[in-house]
Amino acid sequence: MLDKINRLKEEIAALTASDAAAVEALRIKYLSKKGSVSLLFNDFREVAPQDKKAIGQALNELKTMATEKINSLRESTETTDAATDGLDLTRTASPIALGTRHPLSIVREEIIAIFRRLGFTIAEGPEIEDDWHVFSSLNFAPDHPARDMQDTFFINREPDVLLRTHTSSVQSRVMERQKPPIRIICPGRVYRNEAISARAHCFFHQVEALYVDKNVSFADLKQTLLYFAQEMFGPETQIRLRPSYFPFTEPSAEMDISCNLCGGKGCSFCKGTGWVEILGCGMVDPNVLEACGIDPNVYSGFALGMGVERITNLKYQVKDLRMFSENDQRFLEEFQAAH
Ligand code: DAH
Repeated sequence: MLDKINRLKEEIAALTASDAAAVEALRIKYLSKKGSVSLLFNDFREVAPQDKKAIGQALNELKTMATEKINSLRESTETTDAATDGLDLTRTASPIALGTRHPLSIVREEIIAIFRRLGFTIAEGPEIEDDWHVFSSLNFAPDHPARDMQDTFFINREPDVLLRTHTSSVQSRVMERQKPPIRIICPGRVYRNEAISARAHCFFHQVEALYVDKNVSFADLKQTLLYFAQEMFGPETQIRLRPSYFPFTEPSAEMDISCNLCGGKGCSFCKGTGWVEILGCGMVDPNVLEACGIDPNVYSGFALGMGVERITNLKYQVKDLRMFSENDQRFLEEFQAAH
């Protein structure tokens, strides 16, 4: 009997298990009611009285050592299970690296939000356009220089297929299919055949606004412009309108704002004038309304268009236009706090 106990001790001491199921199988094999250790306790009844003390002691030792062995195997598989899952629940979580929004997206969204508060809704149009929507419907003369291959990217001639040079094309698309009142804001990318430099690029972004209804006046335009400028650049911002020319508006104007860097005193950014130009605008030319199927005797409207890069430059002083499309992470990360 003592031999049996010792052999079992050796056997149990050498046990190994790779997972929790294997440990449970061993527990059943040795320690359950029918397990080999328990069966030895049954045999104990047959042991001669003079041997009972020694064998009883050995049996108890065997049971304790078997229980401890199974427990320690169970503990070791529990830690390896967690390790195989690749999880260490005690580790401190690593911080989530937040992405940044592109500065042009930040500014575009801000422009849109301001016009939304005035009841404008977003309208979009295609970047690949035709002559009618980019030029003819907008009152460009047949020999207007913008139609030149030097200024516009043509994909095809006769019929003309081209990349839009401004978002004003969305104006005519919307006016053709929608009756006034129309109050839209059109953000989008535009293309021009320009050599790429710090101050010019072959693609950039514009936001166009159009309001057509009965009795829309220049005063409505001016108040909208003032509201926009003060929301965008702060309540002290002043505006001034300079007469200008666009084929699709009459009268036309360019809007300057008081320089937001020096507050209008004059600095190198505004070249000492205290003013910086930010957009073009005007009353929609009756020819444009007519070309798009809207009666100019009943309706009038105003339009304005601005470059998102220009506004972004004013807000964040980005000197080189090329920064916007180079995806330099160091530049983009500077806008982490902006939104
Ligand atoms: N389309 C003009 C441009 O690309 C900007 C512009 C000026 C849009 C006056 C307008 C406007 O709607 O009324 O330079």
